[in-house]
Amino acid sequence: MEDMTITHSAPGKIILCGEHSVVYGRPAIAVPVSDLRAYAEVRPGSPGTGLILRSQDLRQEIALKNAPQEHTLGKASRLVLQHLNTPEPDAILTIRSELPIASGMGSGAAVAAASIRALSNYLGHELPADVVNALTYEVEKIHHGNPSGIDNTVIAWEKPVYFIREHLPQVFNIGAPFHILIANSGVASSTKEAVTEVRRRLSLAPDYYNTVFNCIGNMANAARAAVESGDVATLGTLLNENHQLLRTMGVSLPELDRLIEAARNNGARGAKLTGSGQGGNIIALVDAEQLEIVEDALWAAGAAHVWHTVVRNYE
Ligand code: PMV
Repeated sequence: MEDMTITHSAPGKIILCGEHSVVYGRPAIAVPVSDLRAYAEVRPGSPGTGLILRSQDLRQEIALKNAPQEHTLGKASRLVLQHLNTPEPDAILTIRSELPIASGMGSGAAVAAASIRALSNYLGHELPADVVNALTYEVEKIHHGNPSGIDNTVIAWEKPVYFIREHLPQVFNIGAPFHILIANSGVASSTKEAVTEVRRRLSLAPDYYNTVFNCIGNMANAARAAVESGDVATLGTLLNENHQLLRTMGVSLPELDRLIEAARNNGARGAKLTGSGQGGNIIALVDAEQLEIVEDALWAAGAAHVWHTVVRNYE
């Protein structure tokens, strides 16, 4: 084992419908973005060094023994060692990610899931997806406080999921592949702050926001049915309606609304913010023949980056 280098990866994700209300027990649906990934590699280190944690993107390095409790890679590594009841190896764990950070694509969960898989494999164990999921959830708690669990679930399983907090996730079928453009607003988004803002509003007007959450939950159910039957027209309408309710929850921004308008005005079937909002990304549902036009419009409306992904079934 000692001369082995192990590499694993995990995908990004987008929430199609139901962010924020999912924190309060309503259903949400999310799909993996398999062409944007986080990678983790573990290889042998020098004897006596213990586990060294490296971030290639941030050019940072720290020994596990010096990593504070809130160090996410440190937490992921300690969870694996505890779970396997194994002593710390003399090894180097290196991560890198293609996913934009602080933008609602699950970069933190993807790095954690890839690291958990790579380190456990290096130690001779292949952890099942539900264990990777549970350990990734523990890492997510560092930054998110009280995450619903949707990010780690869709990323650990790498399947489209219908998710209700504290219920077993349901994998669902994509009736017909569809195109999504993801555009980054260039504004960093903090999940914790956005979730805190929604909680503040809920405490001020519980009846109103519970009604909003119920509506979004119904939309997530309808969106799942639309995805399963390949009904992009209905899905587009639901994305638009979901965004309208996210706006009333105070998690949109002019930068996001501008991108959404640009997508809709140029032929997208629907568009909404995705993830916690207050920055980060929007998604637009676009027919194949409109992709170029909508992409150009997103750049012209100030997108910091645009990605194209095809949502389909995953083996
Ligand atoms: O981490 P993000 O930005 O993808 O947001 C996750 C989705 C929320 O519903 C806002 C929070 C949660 O825990 O589900």
